[in-house]
Amino acid sequence: MKITVAGIGYVGLANAILLAQHNDVTILDLLQERVDTVNSGRSPFMDNEIEEYLADKKLNLTAEVSESDAYRDADYVLVATPTDYDPDKNYFDTHCVEEVIQRVTEVNPNAVIVIKSTVPVGYTASVRERLGNNNILFSPEFLREGSALYDILYPSRIIMGVPLNDRQLADAAQRFVFLLKQGALKEDIPVLLTALDEAEAVKLFSNTYLALRVAFFNELDTYAEIRGMDTKQIIEGICCDPRIGDYYNNPSFGYGGYCLPKDTKQLLANYRNVPNNIIKAIVEANSTRKDFITQRILEKAGYGSESRECPCVIGVYRLTMKKNSDNFRQSSMLGVLKRLTDKGAEVVIYEPNFPEESYMGNKVLSDWETFKSMSSVIIANRYSPELEPVMDKVYTRDIYFRD
Ligand SMILES: NC(=O)c1ccc[n+]([C@@H]2O[C@H](COP(=O)([O-])OP(=O)(O)OC[C@H]3O[C@@H](n4cnc5c(N)ncnc54)[C@H](O)[C@@H]3O)[C@@H](O)[C@H]2O)c1
Repeated sequence: MKITVAGIGYVGLANAILLAQHNDVTILDLLQERVDTVNSGRSPFMDNEIEEYLADKKLNLTAEVSESDAYRDADYVLVATPTDYDPDKNYFDTHCVEEVIQRVTEVNPNAVIVIKSTVPVGYTASVRERLGNNNILFSPEFLREGSALYDILYPSRIIMGVPLNDRQLADAAQRFVFLLKQGALKEDIPVLLTALDEAEAVKLFSNTYLALRVAFFNELDTYAEIRGMDTKQIIEGICCDPRIGDYYNNPSFGYGGYCLPKDTKQLLANYRNVPNNIIKAIVEANSTRKDFITQRILEKAGYGSESRECPCVIGVYRLTMKKNSDNFRQSSMLGVLKRLTDKGAEVVIYEPNFPEESYMGNKVLSDWETFKSMSSVIIANRYSPELEPVMDKVYTRDIYFRD
């Protein structure tokens, strides 16, 4: 099969590698740098498994800039372009997805388009009608950024959204599911063929459930901290119940990363005119948590106290969400940093890979020794052994030293 993938991101590249083991795959991006990196056998982002596959495996994979002709003779086109949340419209910005669909519709209307980007509920049905292309499927992606290729090779499930009553497209969907299974290493992958809106809803409800769980343990931690109680003892007691489970229960400054904040907001937008309490509360809980964390940091740093020795510098240890993360898209630390900056706190940031000297008006340091000596209080969303010598001035809610 000839497959073209739009977008050299986590989703596009991991899927392209999976499919390029048995198919002829071209991956496109607007960024020349990402194209060159893939063609030289390297990953544009940190992922050991992707590096290994690009370097060692026999893949039939070429990267090109997106104006290329690669859509023209493709059997399938996968769309893996960004869908950022637009705060003005209170909805996903889907223009990058639409640009690809428009182009494919112009040059190769027979290609089957599989949207992998996360989209609002109802989007695929509406774009099929608006752009006059009936060959469009939606298949949500569940990979995590820290283990993108692993999650594609061992998927929890494959969900394929297919329009009702279109036998031909349902067959094309089944063939595509076969291609995904053919490239995967996991046996017995659960496969669900659903209607289009339902497949879109599966993705948004899955991420909103994950955000709910993070928000729940964070709110438990807020309670324990205010009441002077031991969060760990409470969580351990709760999580012995197998219905709750001892995983995904580590408090943090808030849920973050590219997907959970935007997907919860999009689901809430889809709830317009539908009664709800929980979905709204999940979105609001994250903001409340970051307000609380900010207030605790300011107290710890002596702001508002008469006896404070000035200046009390707050050191931000990493802007990234997790230990192994290579970007800080929507990390909860950014929300806390913004609040601290708005309150006029004096902040320095330790982020060794950051290209600029300042961020949000705060100094960025790449030298660990300078950062340590400048900071009176160090805040860390996640623990790192590097922090061990300065733990007496560290404020973190990372209880288990894991994600
Ligand atoms: N990152 C994740 O963990 C994850 C997991 C599941 C689903 N998703 C969803 O998948 C989608 C992509 O996410 P990502 O993290 O892989 O994105 P990303 O930002 O890492 O990469 C997207 C790439 O698409 C490129 N692009 C934009 N417009 C293009 C066009 N017209 N033609 C070709 N390339 C174009 C960008 O330059 C960028 O390199 C989003 O909708 C996201 O919500 C992401």
